[in-house]
Amino acid sequence: MSDSIPNLLIYLIIAGLSVAYFIFRKKATSPGLSEEMADVQNAAAEGFGASEQVFPPSAEFVAKARVKGMDGYKKLYRESIEHPEKFWADEAKELTWFEPWTKVLDESKKPFFKWFVDGKTNICYNCIDAQIKKGLGEKVAIVFEGEPTQNGAATEVRRITYKELLVEVSRFANVLKELGLQKGDTVAIYMPMVPELAFAVLACARIGVVHSVVFGGFSAESIRDRVNDAKSKAVITMDGGYRRGKFLALKQTVDEAVQDCPTCERVLVLQRHAGKPDAACAMKAGRDVWYHDVASKVSSDCPAVWQESNEMLFLLYTSGSTGKPKGIIHGTGGYMLQAYTTNKYVFDLRNDDLFWCTADVGWVTGHTYVVYGPLLNGASVLMYEGAPDAPDYSRFWKIVEDHKVTVFYTAPTAIRAFMKWGDEWVKKHNLSSLRLLGSVGEPINPEAWLWYHRNIGAERCPIVDTWWQTETGGHMITPIPGCTPTKPGSATLPFFGVDAAVLDEQGNETDSGILAIRKPWPGITQGIFGDEKRYIEAYWSRWNGAYYFPGDGAIKDKDGYLWITGRVDDVVNVSGHRIGTAELEAVFIENAAVAESAVIGVKHELKGQGLMAFVILKSAAAKTVNEETLAKTLNGMVDTKIGKFARPERIVFVSDLPKTRSGKIMRRLLRDISEGRELGNVSTLADPAVVESIRNKFNNK
Ligand code: WTA
Repeated sequence: MSDSIPNLLIYLIIAGLSVAYFIFRKKATSPGLSEEMADVQNAAAEGFGASEQVFPPSAEFVAKARVKGMDGYKKLYRESIEHPEKFWADEAKELTWFEPWTKVLDESKKPFFKWFVDGKTNICYNCIDAQIKKGLGEKVAIVFEGEPTQNGAATEVRRITYKELLVEVSRFANVLKELGLQKGDTVAIYMPMVPELAFAVLACARIGVVHSVVFGGFSAESIRDRVNDAKSKAVITMDGGYRRGKFLALKQTVDEAVQDCPTCERVLVLQRHAGKPDAACAMKAGRDVWYHDVASKVSSDCPAVWQESNEMLFLLYTSGSTGKPKGIIHGTGGYMLQAYTTNKYVFDLRNDDLFWCTADVGWVTGHTYVVYGPLLNGASVLMYEGAPDAPDYSRFWKIVEDHKVTVFYTAPTAIRAFMKWGDEWVKKHNLSSLRLLGSVGEPINPEAWLWYHRNIGAERCPIVDTWWQTETGGHMITPIPGCTPTKPGSATLPFFGVDAAVLDEQGNETDSGILAIRKPWPGITQGIFGDEKRYIEAYWSRWNGAYYFPGDGAIKDKDGYLWITGRVDDVVNVSGHRIGTAELEAVFIENAAVAESAVIGVKHELKGQGLMAFVILKSAAAKTVNEETLAKTLNGMVDTKIGKFARPERIVFVSDLPKTRSGKIMRRLLRDISEGRELGNVSTLADPAVVESIRNKFNNK
């Protein structure tokens, strides 16, 4: 890239022309467009896909990477699409299988695909035992830093080798057995970001117990719903963990949750550290056990069970466009391969890397890129317990310097926070150990991408902007460092074996529409727990079952690069966390004063998207209620029913909502109002005057 003025001018002209092109297209095609297509075209009009700035892969990567140059990528990609079974079988042979598979891919029950049929393996064995066999026993598997500091230095740093990990995980697995848990049972895990969380996950996998991790920010009611839906037999938790200097108790929240969980027989409680007075836990006799009480009595030797490749490894609940969160099922062999392969190629892991993915293990990113992916590759992975601003804004950069992190993977929302906090916090630390950066969770705006590139990557580290989902198990659209020239804001091109397309509603290929995936990939979900029909309807009904529908809009530029514009369904990515607008609406309707509500996602400077709620009161309540007090009550309800992170930015009380004649709420118009845009097509509204009154109410604040 050159900063010379002529280049800049050319860039500006091209960018201008592209924007004009998309605006023109929008005007030409707007009437009658579905809400989804209108969303994508709004994004196009705002400049998505318009940037022509290109960053070639760094010479260092081209020289050393596994796959070299665009030619290397194209060749391997073509092979993976033309002969997927051969491609994936070759990759799978790099892992340990106790018994070979008889069939790589069984599509007979599409869309319930089976990978590596009859193959027997164990992912925990592949993460730990197989690494020790390769001679990595003394290598550090996990570097942990707790949040508390004294005089600026972390008070707790642990380094756990692969051999030590084997002991910890085996002992943990034996504790689970002591509690009566067996292969096929499900347990919920509700813990802070400490190594014991990884031990718990791996221990479950070792003995074939299905784990269902619930992010530590969820409320008691959310835990309850997840435990009941999955019929979890136990909950593994900890007395608490540190967040922004406070000790957050978790066990109390679990106590509240499991009161109404008939299947949950045991609560296993770990201790963050002994002697912490505010960590005192009330233990219910017969149900609750301290981990250390059982662990001291069991052996630290526990063989890994053999799992058929399609047996369930874990459940992870995520938000959808309707109803309650859905339990996404992942199997063993296919998921393992997706985690292994993507980690290997996308992060180009090498022996001396220290890989830091800042996601919490409560989300899929933490499953695949804190625990499974890096360990399957025999890497050293960093886990940090706390917040990026504790004790000050430079904490992440101090961690990078102190531990010499080489690959750093975070979310755009965090990057925007770093930008806001100011460059001085970054400059305090030596980040020269870094060689590769990653982004995940939501579209990254080019401004944040460029800041990341300059300030964290010193214009030296490639950035991999990785698009994927809980349902896909691992990366799907992403640059491969050493191959793919990157463009700020674009997730670029499909990963190996991923046959991606951008389609219109009829299923025709287009340059701005809806993202679709044609072929199954190993990490694809095995469905929604207990609801096969919902799985088919949500993901496979759109184009007659020919494509997987991920729920995202996308633009394909002239180079075939994909620009993800965000969700086109009623799911909102708040700080990279998925929340279904229907979940909030279900909370509000429980309040006696509320008649109806519509929740939408709107642009947010830091969070990417925030939630905006429009609430109609019952007529009696509308006359007497104090709006400010009611808004506080509704927010409190969100805290207890979902979690604080799902609070809306604002609750606007309105007398009506924009609806079509058939009664469907036109959320797009609410988005237009909230983002100060000119209103889109209102001709299908039952009462066009409604939008004006909402707009007035919205603007008067
Ligand atoms: C969004 C997180 C744009 C997208 C891994 C997707 C992204 C949802 C990106 C999945 C990206 C994730 N660019 N959007 N690089 N990565 N998304 O299940 O809307 O928590 O559908 O998985 O996040 O969120 P989930």
